[in-house]
Amino acid sequence: MIHPPNSFHLQRYPSTTNRSLKAWNASDEYMIDYLRSIQLPRTENLVIYNDHFGYLSLHLSDVEPSIVITKKSQEFAIRENAAKLSVDLKETQFKSPLESFDSEVNLAVIRLPKSMELFKHFLHQLSFSLTKDAIVVAGFMTRHFNKSMISIAEQYFEEAEQSLARKKSRLLIMKHPKKTITEFPVINNIPYTFPAGEQTEIKQYPGVFSSKRIDVATDLLIQHLNIQDDDMKILDLASGNGVIASAVQYQKPEATIHLMDDSVLAVESSKMNLRNGEVYFHTTPSLTDINEKNFDLIVSNPPFHFEHENTIEITLRLFNEVHAALKAAGRFVLVANTHLNYSTHLKRIFNSVHQIASSNKYEIIQAVK
Ligand SMILES: C[S@@+](CC[C@H](N)C(=O)[O-])C[C@H]1O[C@@H](n2cnc3c(N)ncnc32)[C@H](O)[C@@H]1O
Repeated sequence: MIHPPNSFHLQRYPSTTNRSLKAWNASDEYMIDYLRSIQLPRTENLVIYNDHFGYLSLHLSDVEPSIVITKKSQEFAIRENAAKLSVDLKETQFKSPLESFDSEVNLAVIRLPKSMELFKHFLHQLSFSLTKDAIVVAGFMTRHFNKSMISIAEQYFEEAEQSLARKKSRLLIMKHPKKTITEFPVINNIPYTFPAGEQTEIKQYPGVFSSKRIDVATDLLIQHLNIQDDDMKILDLASGNGVIASAVQYQKPEATIHLMDDSVLAVESSKMNLRNGEVYFHTTPSLTDINEKNFDLIVSNPPFHFEHENTIEITLRLFNEVHAALKAAGRFVLVANTHLNYSTHLKRIFNSVHQIASSNKYEIIQAVK
């Protein structure tokens, strides 16, 4: 059975002091209502995508859905909410966005992601397992409508229709899947030249930060990377496709390099870009999970967009974690949009903070513990 909307009261993990940020939205409620209103196949084989804090997973828990995890923070939040509300979720229900499903799928629900490339990746992954009569429902807030969601849906389905709006949300209902033969997963190749002239192609899966080119701010940080003789243990925080860690590796191949990112597809992408050596990959939203301390240097192009939400809270928590993970007098070097004014926040945490370079829009800040 599918529980009626709002049968479970969920919390955000990590919690937030911003009271406007909620653990679910009207499109989640709409998706659950819609599934309750239609004639479901007798043996549902259901897949959930991009469930932020567990609203979909918990309301659909009785049918033991597969839950595709693109961000480790989502998995933590779903597990926390399930445990708190005494809902049993099995280990085998959690799936990677890169694996194929063991059995046929006749129903899927998607909280539409901000990245249309990621939406396409979800449909692509599903396309190999959907039954002829499968229904895929994507929920979104009307203000986040994007024309390309329709054209993407039409690449994979004969029928893609929008519902009426309800509480400023809509559903995109997809039926009659087309046969797909394209190779999965898609890998994007981004040409890049490191400062000393080495040319490479950075590889990444869909939905990973800056998919068409290396980000301008990232490039600025790489141009100003100054690794010192005693920088032997180095972390790329929020590492994305790993291009910054890769630049570190070019400058200092003998260093121990750690990469950490919340996104599963980002970390899996970076594994294709780093060369052999002492390199460690961590998929997690928090430095406290990786159990590593005494870094000589931490470099970062830190996150400040979280899907459609802009909040500095997570970034500030990461700054505090960076301080705890550095050795005494260790350095944190980051790039940021100047308007974010990160120096003010960093000065409250670090001993000395100064700008080491800037362009018209971005600055590179060094904070010393
Ligand atoms: C601005 S991008 C930088 C990516 C990469 N370093 C680059 O320069 O191309 C920020 C990255 O932060 C990641 N991210 C978001 N929240 C995070 C968190 N709590 N912990 C670690 N990484 C996070 C995102 O997945 C994204 O890859």
